[in-house]
Amino acid sequence: MPALRRTGLLLQSLAGSFARLLRAQLPSTTLQRRTYSAALTAQSVVAAKHPFQVNLEAGKKYAWCACGHSKNQPFCDGSHRKAAPKISSLKFKPEETKEAWLCGCKCTKNPPYCDGTHKEDFVQKADLGCHPQL
Ligand code: FES
Repeated sequence: MPALRRTGLLLQSLAGSFARLLRAQLPSTTLQRRTYSAALTAQSVVAAKHPFQVNLEAGKKYAWCACGHSKNQPFCDGSHRKAAPKISSLKFKPEETKEAWLCGCKCTKNPPYCDGTHKEDFVQKADLGCHPQL
């Protein structure tokens, strides 16, 4: 097997493992896992290098953009259907009305909320609209 193909298969396997790890860390009380693919997949891009401050209402349904292609950040506008068909939005319903910081880099380990990952070099060095290099 050519080395390039082996490397490609290894990277594909690592990406799958990473996506499974991210999904396993999702809190199940507020998130609908079935609609969430994973942040930082091969098709997700950095929408912003900062989080978005939003006011969330208790019991209201929201769809956080996981792909980074939405023009209505941090929320989904349906762009993923064409730009990143393997990714879907993360639908969630807050249990309380609150101010929140939603992830804009799409690399958080606690989607849809910011966990500070945007401060890391691999995000800060990435171009907006591009997939960050780990
Ligand atoms: S998840 Fe990004 S536009 Fe829907």
